[in-house]
Amino acid sequence: MAAPNSPSSTAAVSDHHNALVLDEVGKPMRLELRPTPKPGPGSVLIRILASSIRANSRRVYQEPTSGHPLPTPFVPGFAAIGRVAETGPDATSLQGGQLVFFDPYIIARDSSDAKYISGLMECVDEESRRLSRGEWRDSTFAEFANLPLENCFPLDEARLMRTPQDGGLGYTLDNLTHLFSMLIPFGGLADINLKAGETAIIAPATGRYGSAAVHLALALGARVIAIGRNRTILEQLATIHPQRLSAIPITGDVDADTQALRTVTGPSGADVFWDMSPPGAGTSTHFTSSLNALKNGARISLMGSVLSGVGFDYMQILIKGLTIKGTWMCTKEQTSRLIKMVETGLLQLDAQSMGPVRKFRLEDWAVAFDTGAERTEPGEVVITP
Ligand SMILES: NC(=O)c1ccc[n+]([C@@H]2O[C@H](COP(=O)([O-])OP(=O)(O)OC[C@H]3O[C@@H](n4cnc5c(N)ncnc54)[C@H](OP(=O)(O)O)[C@@H]3O)[C@@H](O)[C@H]2O)c1
Repeated sequence: MAAPNSPSSTAAVSDHHNALVLDEVGKPMRLELRPTPKPGPGSVLIRILASSIRANSRRVYQEPTSGHPLPTPFVPGFAAIGRVAETGPDATSLQGGQLVFFDPYIIARDSSDAKYISGLMECVDEESRRLSRGEWRDSTFAEFANLPLENCFPLDEARLMRTPQDGGLGYTLDNLTHLFSMLIPFGGLADINLKAGETAIIAPATGRYGSAAVHLALALGARVIAIGRNRTILEQLATIHPQRLSAIPITGDVDADTQALRTVTGPSGADVFWDMSPPGAGTSTHFTSSLNALKNGARISLMGSVLSGVGFDYMQILIKGLTIKGTWMCTKEQTSRLIKMVETGLLQLDAQSMGPVRKFRLEDWAVAFDTGAERTEPGEVVITP
């Protein structure tokens, strides 16, 4: 029996389909009717139902100096949810019609050094450019996308979308799009092995990735200190879990902010500091106040794009024996684990506390990218082709 919330289960393949094309960074995108590809060995054709727009998408596609090289001309995109339309000849478990999550972090099959963030950023070494400019150049802002088999993770549609009376979680496609903001923060939290009962400082917690990290850390059983500048969003976050979540503003006064963090952590300090700051936050005082509030042996996850270099206190790292781990995207094992956390009900994709899902058609790309850049608060911005 199909789940009542299921998005259209037909993934009938048409000869041609619509795709957004970016010819050159800085030029307007254009909608193109193009032949639908046939999946070969190692690939799968996905009918895209929703694809994620990030806060930096507009800048990446419009500004040549964004620091995100792209394999233009190409179809942009990012993480997506879709249905298997057709499998290649070597697929063994994916089946036509199946609901899948596309993890956009593509790693070459013959060298883990060659990488491509599908639709959003290529690497500049020669091997990586061969990967991003070859078979996998085109991403998910399209009705159909031909994607690497190993990047398409099955979603248990019956469990996720059937009603609770039928043993399901009652989710809609909108609920599932919250996975888009969870994916990458989970990589960092998993890499530093955040555990139940530990205390984690999450910064900045008021954006889409940061607020997702708050939900993840809570689901992992941690006590969470969400820090950020936007007091309105901090107040909203604080209501998610009054027992295990404290929201503390970044005021710019290092001593006062350290003291505020210590009122929650107590004298021993926090176990974990997770950070995903955008370039503009490079000079923020929260790096120092958070380090001040860490315990001996604490772990730090750095996931943002701070281009200026952060003035971490060398001696504090040494004396406290801190471990700093940088994480780019997440591993396949982590993506599977994240999906399992949702399917088991441990991580709830709660529409009310995770923010609105703003949806746009392919042809409305301009307003979609403006929304992605301007509405950086919790929630999702997606293209639904
Ligand atoms: N490691 C990876 O694999 C990976 C993957 C994707 C993206 N990234 C990087 O992660 C970064 C964050 O992404 P995002 O989508 O969350 O970006 P974003 O939406 O631009 O970041 C918003 C968050 O940053 C805060 N913020 C902005 N300026 C600040 C400042 N001067 N001081 C303190 N907080 C400030 C905002 O708080 P307010 O509410 O106070 O403005 C908000 O919480 C990006 O730069 C991106 O390149 C990393």
